[in-house]
Amino acid sequence: MSLKPKIALFQCQWCLYSPTDQEWVDSQLPENIHLIKTPCTGRINPLYVLNAVQGGADGVMISGCLPEQCHFKTGNMAARRQLEEFNDFLDYIGYEKSRMRFVWLDLQDRGIIQKRLAQFEKDLEALGQASNLVTRVKVAEGGQNA
Ligand code: FES
Repeated sequence: MSLKPKIALFQCQWCLYSPTDQEWVDSQLPENIHLIKTPCTGRINPLYVLNAVQGGADGVMISGCLPEQCHFKTGNMAARRQLEEFNDFLDYIGYEKSRMRFVWLDLQDRGIIQKRLAQFEKDLEALGQASNLVTRVKVAEGGQNA
């Protein structure tokens, strides 16, 4: 893959305790990573993930709080259960399971988000582009398809 893989990063707004990490995610993410901030991973509807996949995401990362540290008690557990099942479904229809990755972060995990994203990017490069489920076609200026 010559271009960097496109990554949709769904991030629980509470999971990055380090202001430096949150600042990096909020304002210094590389262009190939699209941030979708949520109040809790439990609020991530699988259709949002499907939307990212259909829009051309080569990978989806879900970043949330550790199981016992969710601000909404069990939001992350529900998200994990639901999104893992949805991941099975995506795999069944042609979007490899390894294209979705969960990252559960702890208070001590400063700087981990950068490392996890870099590793995910590397793994996605090995997989190549995911174009099976892309349904939205880029429209050029003036309304003509590119
Ligand atoms: Fe962070 Fe629920 S508040 S995953």
